Amino acid sequence: MAKHLIKVASVAPKLNKDSAVVVVLDDKNRKLSINQNLIQLGITSEHDLTKLGAKNAADAITKIPGPNGSVIVLLGGFESGNLDAIRYAGGTAGRSLSDFRSIYLDISVQNETEAAALLEGYAIGHYSFDAYKTGKNKQPAQNVTLLTKLKIKPATLTRIEILSSAVHDTRNLVSMPANDLYPQSFVSEVNKLVRGAKLAVTVLDEKKLASGGFGGLVGVGKGSVRPPRLVKIEYKPSGAKFKLALVGKGITYDTGGLSLKPAASMLGMKYDMTGAATVLNAIIAIARLKVKVHATAYLCLAENMPSGTATRPGDVIKVRNGKTIEVTNTDAEGRLVLADGLSLASEAYPDLIVDVATLTGAQRVALGARYAGLMGDEAAVNKVLKAAQAAGELAWHMPMPEELRTLMNSDIADLQNAKVGNTAGGMLFGAIFLREFIGRKSANSSETIPWAHLDIAGPADNDGSGYGYIPKGASGSYVRTLISIAEQNAK
Ligand code: BES
Ligand code: ZN
Ligand code: ZN
Repeated sequence: MAKHLIKVASVAPKLNKDSAVVVVLDDKNRKLSINQNLIQLGITSEHDLTKLGAKNAADAITKIPGPNGSVIVLLGGFESGNLDAIRYAGGTAGRSLSDFRSIYLDISVQNETEAAALLEGYAIGHYSFDAYKTGKNKQPAQNVTLLTKLKIKPATLTRIEILSSAVHDTRNLVSMPANDLYPQSFVSEVNKLVRGAKLAVTVLDEKKLASGGFGGLVGVGKGSVRPPRLVKIEYKPSGAKFKLALVGKGITYDTGGLSLKPAASMLGMKYDMTGAATVLNAIIAIARLKVKVHATAYLCLAENMPSGTATRPGDVIKVRNGKTIEVTNTDAEGRLVLADGLSLASEAYPDLIVDVATLTGAQRVALGARYAGLMGDEAAVNKVLKAAQAAGELAWHMPMPEELRTLMNSDIADLQNAKVGNTAGGMLFGAIFLREFIGRKSANSSETIPWAHLDIAGPADNDGSGYGYIPKGASGSYVRTLISIAEQNAK
């Protein structure tokens, strides 16, 4: 794990061979100009930055020799006034400079918000997962200093620490291989991570799940020797008025079950618990930031394995809200565990339910690896879009075509979990299925609880190379969107 300590200073440091100074490029009239910061570092107008290979583009980093053995880093893509570009450029720096003990960001920011975006990007981007690399996990912490005359509140730096830890802890959990991370050990990780936060954790084990009517979790988990768990984590600050429920798909490994996945599609299915890791770390951050909302996270944890005790295609299960489901495809397991999670979340009558899931391969086909598919009620979807925008994360509103509902009719049960042989609108089908488990606003209301569904099958995993503050591998995306949802609804 790459560690760092973020600071702010107004005076230029004494540079040495362990330090790097990061300077942004100006390209007035499409020509890279030597700015004041560079002149102070001994770069004169005789230097031609273009010939040195510098480019003022997103993700462009050029290193040149600096004073006393230090390195000057020419960072592209910084745009004054554009917070997303600033966060992204900070991330590019954070991702690329792990070799240095001290980093000085010699970048003029206009105000505290820009400073925060730059440092947030750096902190989120400065990450590596070395837990399984021999001898690599004992690197000393890096000192990161923003050089500015602005006054930066300590709370701003604390907030950056909270946000970046939430993203890093999500990536760490998602990256853990499934031989070490399974429902029970996930619960141990939850207990470690919530330490010190004002959160109440309740764990339902396989016995409680069976007696409580959680047939989705039981049905998916019963093919594995590692039994399922449902973890409820509650944050209830006094005086909070808004009740937010976050539900996460936590399949610690998805083989497909008896509807077994082919080898190439199975690889990487340790990522199938990203939704649970996301809601977990979001609620921890919400508590640490003391956001005034009553928030509850529900982690639906199971391992989807084929075995003599596994659910068979054609079996019928009954989930928490009483509906029966014919399991036509055991690989459509996420919607079964979420059926239980959404039903339980509804029982507390929250003002908003948001679920996060690596639900369908169709999501990735439709939107690629950078956009989440967002579905649900208009008002809830708009809240999530607004929050995603504040966080600088990408989500695209997808429709829920009513005609897909009829494809869910089963000959034997209330519903079937997949229409075998029909893949049309697979992501949308998933959302329409989940809608069946959203309860009413109150015992005697006819309206359903506002609900939004984020299908993150694509963006959970960055299978390309790193960009901005996103490394290769687990992205940790949408944790900050969930935190923003809480912040935007705090009252
Ligand atoms: N975990 C997968 C979805 C997935 C696929 C996530 C690729 C990330 C990358 C999910 O459980 C699944 O297998 N869904 C099926 C549903 C189908 C059987 C209706 C799918 O998308 O093929
Ligand atoms: Zn599956
Ligand atoms: Zn799955």
